[in-house]
Amino acid sequence: MFKKETYIARREQLRKDVKNGLIIIQGNSESSCNYKDNTYFFRQDSTFLYFFGLQREDMYGVLDCETGEDWIFAKDYDIEDIIWTGALPSVAELASTVGVTKSGSLADLQSIVNKAVAQGRKIHYLPPYRTDNLVKMGNLLGIKTDRVNRYASLELIKACVKQRSIKSDEEIAEIERAIATAYNMHVGAMKMAMPGRYEYELAGFMEGTALMGGGPVSFPVIMTINGQTLHNHNHNHELKVGRMLVMDAGCETPMHYCSDITRTVPVGGKFDERQKTIYEIVLAANLEAIRVTRPGITYQEVHTAASRILAQGYKDLGILKGNLDDIVANGAHSLMMPHGLGHMMGLDVHDMENYGEINVGYDDETERSKQFGLGSLRCGRRLQPGFVITDEPGCYFIPELIDKWHREGTNAQFIDFDVLEKYKDFGGIRIEDDILVTNDGCRVLGKPIPKTVKEIEDTMRG
Ligand code: GLY
Ligand code: MN
Repeated sequence: MFKKETYIARREQLRKDVKNGLIIIQGNSESSCNYKDNTYFFRQDSTFLYFFGLQREDMYGVLDCETGEDWIFAKDYDIEDIIWTGALPSVAELASTVGVTKSGSLADLQSIVNKAVAQGRKIHYLPPYRTDNLVKMGNLLGIKTDRVNRYASLELIKACVKQRSIKSDEEIAEIERAIATAYNMHVGAMKMAMPGRYEYELAGFMEGTALMGGGPVSFPVIMTINGQTLHNHNHNHELKVGRMLVMDAGCETPMHYCSDITRTVPVGGKFDERQKTIYEIVLAANLEAIRVTRPGITYQEVHTAASRILAQGYKDLGILKGNLDDIVANGAHSLMMPHGLGHMMGLDVHDMENYGEINVGYDDETERSKQFGLGSLRCGRRLQPGFVITDEPGCYFIPELIDKWHREGTNAQFIDFDVLEKYKDFGGIRIEDDILVTNDGCRVLGKPIPKTVKEIEDTMRG
């Protein structure tokens, strides 16, 4: 945990931004896997972590905007629990570690909420993303579960987004710690990417390495020789020379700050000419995003700058044809990259997306595009110093999508489908870094992970 002053200051700011009413921050519960007591690993809710830092299940934090009081509500463990869990601090003791002087039971929480409702006070809460929390919030507020999300507080969402979007130096240090572990995950897996191995061996190495760094993976590992499928979680294939291996994986620190890194390597360690050509195009797009990212530019503009590099590369290969501006304006290049350039990252690998992607990545000024590809950009708004965002261009030859566009004549004036046909067996490439927007540009976070053709070949040879 950070020192308690960090959490006190964050809550103080939140009360100021929300202005009035009672704010309820709901923690997460244990979640059963195949029977009640066999649970998935416990993951505290990120908003709860941000404002209260505590990792025990079934906690509620309450902030009173009028009185300035903060509370923690939870059940104290009794001897029946302690037999299984060992001695644990009381709720009051835990609360004091994050500067909260008031605590109570869940029954006390219900009384406080009932009183606030009776007084007609505004109650602010976030839309629950877990069904058990949805039911509990409905019961607490006395509203039907299907109305809980409808009454969630936009003021609270906006206040949380405002604070959490700007990462402090201590948060950056945590994120870089997560990237340090991701370095070990990726460099180790690169060296293992030899013919005869199976994807699951490398995925398992990555999961174990994440745990050795103090936290689990930050999302299910993507480790695939079929990288044309963007989120491919099938790990059953044998590695074969001629395939590109997409490795998209990150981890959490013990405080749950994340990393999210993608590297793509040729199985066996040597790029062939076609692999090298496509790889260099994607790498140039990744580097272009780093070159142009700075405060004041929108991430939509950065996405478009990277797209121009990709489109020019495809033009040089004869896959695309026509005027570059028209290609990009019409999204013809998106056939090979149907996703956005990146997303915010922090306590969540897709930071704050539980508040609604549109509330995090867009605002009154920047509207989400409806175009295929650009419309999938999760964060398009104007960048500010302190934002941490991923830079993850890719190139994917998706046979089903190519066939569909060909059949339907989509962007047909810009695409040479005969040339494209020859790439249908290629697979995919993605290159992803985590970058911090600084006062005058950006910084790629963490120790550099091999990324150029030479660096990757040298690492894999070693
Ligand atoms: N790295 C996985 C994702 O960003 O969705
Ligand atoms: Mn990502």
